Amino acid sequence: MTIDEKVRKTLAELGGDPKRAFEEVRAAMGTERASLISRGAASQTERSKLCKDLRDRWLSRKNGILSFIDENWLKASPRELKPIVGSEFNELRAECAAIEIAVLSREVPVRGTVADGSQNPADAPLPTAATHVIREVPGDLTLPGNRRSLGTLHPVTEMQREIEDIFLNLGFHIESGPEIESVHYNFDTLNIPESHPSRDDWDTLYIDSQTVLRTHTSPVQIRAMEKYGAPLYIIIPGKCYRHDNPDASHSPMFHQIEGLAIDRDITFADLKGTLDFFAKKLFGEKIRTRFQPSFFPFTEPSGEVAISCIFCGGEGCRVCKESGWIEVMGCGMVHPQVLQNGGVDPAKYTGWAFGLGIDRFAMLKYDINDIQLFFQSDVRFLQQF
Ligand code: PHE
Repeated sequence: MTIDEKVRKTLAELGGDPKRAFEEVRAAMGTERASLISRGAASQTERSKLCKDLRDRWLSRKNGILSFIDENWLKASPRELKPIVGSEFNELRAECAAIEIAVLSREVPVRGTVADGSQNPADAPLPTAATHVIREVPGDLTLPGNRRSLGTLHPVTEMQREIEDIFLNLGFHIESGPEIESVHYNFDTLNIPESHPSRDDWDTLYIDSQTVLRTHTSPVQIRAMEKYGAPLYIIIPGKCYRHDNPDASHSPMFHQIEGLAIDRDITFADLKGTLDFFAKKLFGEKIRTRFQPSFFPFTEPSGEVAISCIFCGGEGCRVCKESGWIEVMGCGMVHPQVLQNGGVDPAKYTGWAFGLGIDRFAMLKYDINDIQLFFQSDVRFLQQF
């Protein structure tokens, strides 16, 4: 006997437990509902029709299954069974909320393309699809998302920028030049004769007899003079290369910043004043500077600059090897021949220059005792900056 046949009989005619009878009805309703949802509809129009059909089959006042149950099961039941049949009927009615048209049309999906030609945008399966997607998102949506850590600037880059900032504030410009450099710029025009030991294969990485990996940033002095003429106030940061075995204080690749000031009446006092100001800006007002005579082929006179030890204040410690001073750069007045080589008239202009190792400065500033750490890309080291 089908459900439709059963609801046309009274409970007495059916015999058996009224609760079981209601259970069977509810199961039938659940099955019909689930089967409509899983079949879906070909279009929105068809969906409306299927939903209305199912709803009417069960809930229509005239011929709906519930009307038959009301008539034949509830009203016809003997008085002593009324309470139980009544409460079962109420429960069934409450469950029928799930087959109201509005509820059903939210749950019944419209399948992709429509065969009957009613392909209008309103028929798109989006609302149902969206409902399904949202249901599938796992977990707690209020939890913070996965963040990718951004990383930080490399300590050498930080040091370079700090130095650049000081000179930019003094009115200097930043200039750069090639790392693969000609012997002409790297040596010849800088007054470094062929016999000079720095040209030796052991110090210089040659690409061919006329081309080297630049051993310092000084060649850009000449390039900039040729390009801009005088007056000139520039700093030149960049990578340099030397034929050095890597150890705690040497690396075949390292970083320098060159400084160059050319103008009328530039004197050694300007050089001293500028570098003293620079050291105090970078390491603090208490820092003192010391200039000692030295030699570079491209400056005359030349000097070696030391700063009072930033760790012991000049008392003497492990870092300054008990001397109270730390040598930090080479400097001097630009050699008149070098000005001439760069096309600047040494009768009219004078200038000073300095060159320092950025890596060394970073080692000092961050108290790092091995230059290799900068270039090993060990995140545990780099994360500390
Ligand atoms: N170029 C020199 C070096 O690499 C440093 C320097 C630059 C010295 C400018 C004096 C003037 O050692």
